[in-house]
Amino acid sequence: MTSFHLNGQAVSVDIPDDTPLLWVIRDDIGLTGTKFGCGIGMCGACTVHVDGRAQRSCITPVGAVEGAAITTIEGLSPNGQHPLQTAWVEAQAPQCGYCQSGQIMQAATLLLDFPSPSAEDITAVMHGNLCRCMAYIRIRKAILLAAPQLRGSEPT
Ligand code: FES
Ligand code: FES
Repeated sequence: MTSFHLNGQAVSVDIPDDTPLLWVIRDDIGLTGTKFGCGIGMCGACTVHVDGRAQRSCITPVGAVEGAAITTIEGLSPNGQHPLQTAWVEAQAPQCGYCQSGQIMQAATLLLDFPSPSAEDITAVMHGNLCRCMAYIRIRKAILLAAPQLRGSEPT
């Protein structure tokens, strides 16, 4: 049995400890906003927050998050109006959208570490989040739109 908090709710799952957290979130709990891309930690589609930090859920065994606070895209804000989400809409960042929840979760960590990020900061932190639609320029624009609104905010 593994117990943790998911989007503020206490959760206990009776699943083998080495099951990827991504499977638990999607298949057992039913939150499908977090996506499966590569399954080997190389694309970022599965990014969630574990204790406020971006982490690849496809290579995180559920047993490793005992007692942790996990946030998925569904929990980033109560109403889908997180500054990153509204900036994503304003910048029309997504194309197919598949990578975008992972991009947003990674960007949230970026803006905690770099409240006024340079282009180099964005590249350094976001380079592991791949977008097969090549929406990188719009993603960068959205991050820069959200940054002023997030300065001084608390981690999710
Ligand atoms: S699905 Fe996890 S990094 Fe690609
Ligand atoms: S918007 Fe299609 S993969 Fe990024």
